[in-house]
Amino acid sequence: MENLFPKDFFWGGAIAANQCEGAYLEDGKGESTQDHVSAAAFNKTRKVYESIEKDVYFPSHVGIDFYHNYKEDIKLFAEMGFKMFRFSIAWSRIFPTGVEDTPNEAGLEFYDNVLKELKKYNIEPLVTISHYESPFYLTRKYNGWYSRETIDHFVKYCEVLFKRYKNDVTYWITFNEINCLTLDIKAFQGGALLYDENGAPVQPKQIPDNMRYQALHHQFVASAEVVKLAKTINPDFKLGCMLAYMCQYPLTCRPEDMMLANEAMQLRNYLCGDVHIRGYYPSFAKKYFERQNISIKMDSKDEKILREGTVDFCAFSYYQSICVSTNPNEERIQGNILDGIKNPYVKVSDWGWQIDPIGLRWTLHQLYDRYQIPLMIAENGLGANDILEENGSINDTYRIDYLRSHIKEIGKAISEGIEIMGYTWWGPIDMVSLGTGEMKKRYGFIYVDRDNEGKGSLKRYKKKSFEWYKKVIASNGNNI
Ligand code: BG6
Repeated sequence: MENLFPKDFFWGGAIAANQCEGAYLEDGKGESTQDHVSAAAFNKTRKVYESIEKDVYFPSHVGIDFYHNYKEDIKLFAEMGFKMFRFSIAWSRIFPTGVEDTPNEAGLEFYDNVLKELKKYNIEPLVTISHYESPFYLTRKYNGWYSRETIDHFVKYCEVLFKRYKNDVTYWITFNEINCLTLDIKAFQGGALLYDENGAPVQPKQIPDNMRYQALHHQFVASAEVVKLAKTINPDFKLGCMLAYMCQYPLTCRPEDMMLANEAMQLRNYLCGDVHIRGYYPSFAKKYFERQNISIKMDSKDEKILREGTVDFCAFSYYQSICVSTNPNEERIQGNILDGIKNPYVKVSDWGWQIDPIGLRWTLHQLYDRYQIPLMIAENGLGANDILEENGSINDTYRIDYLRSHIKEIGKAISEGIEIMGYTWWGPIDMVSLGTGEMKKRYGFIYVDRDNEGKGSLKRYKKKSFEWYKKVIASNGNNI
């Protein structure tokens, strides 16, 4: 069989600090916004607490203790043959409150060590600067990204990272899944803001549109500013945006359904993609803001900053597809990111996410047709309730099936002319679920012995998919 994948294709995996590091106050780290979010379960919303309460379980505090196990974990990733490892930096490890003038040296050293370990195995790092968290103090003081002041603190944080890791990191992502701020679900989880217009604490699903889009605007400006800054520190840096690709099909070919799907795709995906990649707000967004009475305060220099700070590559996550329909009686389905109409042609995961590998190829075409810059599949994965057998094995054949079917579609997309940098599976090791705070929703090739209540030895076990992914990488995508 012809090898479809380029020789330098980045096979690997992706994690985020707050879902795996733990050590939440160790070596000078401050509390992050995620440290204030409790655990929940399927279809239950995680709760945000103003203070850390003793009888509430906050899963980020221990995570899977990657902070103390990174060497062992990276060794396992290397054993699978990873070419790339995507991880995020916890802002509150570098600036514990966010407002200090000088960074926390111990926090920087931790990431020095992670990078050193990756280098040892020739694994290319892909660093996410902001993965759904900010220092809690900063968020409280300024109401997070709702205030313009947060931009300056973010730029200061990025400058420290760019200078420190100038020779160790080439690929950076500014904000993880920035477009989730267009939804009313994850806004707090983005560390976006804490209080509503009356000063009352907000929970996910309760953030006024005006505030979310204002916070989003500040993130756009911050991203563009740091893209410009990065190039002055190392012109070889490659900066990417990151979208949660919300793949939405019309349920039928009724023209009204087609138009509804088009609007949903524009608002949920292309608004953010266009600002990051084209450098300006698309006209449909301006009209949407007018219709919804959303008025965003912009500085006179913002347009220029956005134009000058466009990204080099487009990273995205893809897990599922959903349908939209103008008929209110169609059967709905709910995942923690997307909810919409059920597609009769695809299967569904235990957590209500529709499994649609062809949707990934369709996504690759849509993004490449529109933007014509390299694409990076920064997340794709299957959350499942894996069983650890008495003999220590985990037979996750369903994960292998998911992986195989998605990799096949990536290969086809490459043969159809799409430029793809790599594929980092979410999460190569089990970790805390972002949406539910559970451990039970496992994505890993490596099982971690820890449960939803925080019990377990934290011991690592290889699942069946571990050997399978290893073969895929060794054959550069041929042995599937
Ligand atoms: C993405 C996030 O939305 O989906 C990750 O970037 C997250 O942080 C992943 O973990 C899977 O979602 P969940 O809710 O199953 O953990």
